[in-house]
Amino acid sequence: MSYGLLKGKKGIISGALDENSIAWKTAIKAHEEGAQIVLTNAPIAMRMGKINELAEQIGAEIIPADATSVEDLENLYTKSMELLGGKMDFVLHSIGMSPNIRKGRAYGDLNYDWFLKSIDISALSFHKFMQVGDKLDALNDWGSVVGLSYIAAQKTFPFYTDMADAKAVLESIARSFGYRLGKSKKIRVNTISQSPTMTTAGSGIGGFDSFFDFAEKMSPLGNATGENCADYIVSLFSDLTKMVTMQNLYHDGGYSSTGISEEIIEMMQK
Ligand SMILES: NC(=O)c1ccc[n+]([C@@H]2O[C@H](COP(=O)([O-])OP(=O)(O)OC[C@H]3O[C@@H](n4cnc5c(N)ncnc54)[C@H](O)[C@@H]3O)[C@@H](O)[C@H]2O)c1
Repeated sequence: MSYGLLKGKKGIISGALDENSIAWKTAIKAHEEGAQIVLTNAPIAMRMGKINELAEQIGAEIIPADATSVEDLENLYTKSMELLGGKMDFVLHSIGMSPNIRKGRAYGDLNYDWFLKSIDISALSFHKFMQVGDKLDALNDWGSVVGLSYIAAQKTFPFYTDMADAKAVLESIARSFGYRLGKSKKIRVNTISQSPTMTTAGSGIGGFDSFFDFAEKMSPLGNATGENCADYIVSLFSDLTKMVTMQNLYHDGGYSSTGISEEIIEMMQK
């Protein structure tokens, strides 16, 4: 069911790799709600992923951009404004990658070049999306910028290694740039701290299935799905949330506020 929440709005959605991606589901919902969208992903993901299928389905153009490259992002905004005929009302940063996690390096044995890559791809790129958009005057007043985070930024999850540090930086950037863009253009900037979700990035993390099940049992509402997350993102892009900014918003079925659940106690008693 659609409500026309994004009628007349234009925006950029990054990070749609396949139909499991949070960004993929968001693009479909944003389109249903009336938005005009440009899709973007890293050039390598163009070859690996199925983003062309999505573009066809929602009638969107794709502009490849490595989110760590300022030049690519300048091209992304400039072409998006040409294609959509104006400035962006929303931007979704749905990007994360850690070479250390990919290659199974423990937190006490990190490769520091890869660590810097994790931070650049997963956190600094959020800053770059906003700095480039602001400098090119490509963001509309009262716009909305959303990034995706995980609770490992606040509490230790050993398997999440350097991504935990990257998410802490990401959330801090949301506050620092949120202040700036709020003052200058009434633009809001938030991160959503999402439940474990079965996607390529999510399931690449060691022990994912176990902590997915653990979170499901800990959360009174159960884990929030990718579809649920897409709904929440659309609400943050809409005019119904104009005064929400500089927040890390838990979207996790109550996980972050639960100390222990009856299900976990039962498991421990066995
Ligand atoms: N899946 C989960 O359990 C979970 C939980 C909380 C937060 N998140 C966050 O949600 C976001 C989206 O991830 P997802 O779960 O949908 O997985 P996904 O693998 O579908 O999406 C990650 C995307 O990042 C893109 N990417 C990687 N390097 C890039 C680069 N240099 N430039 C541009 N794009 C690049 C990938 O191509 C991919 O499309 C990430 O920030 C992730 O950390 C995921």
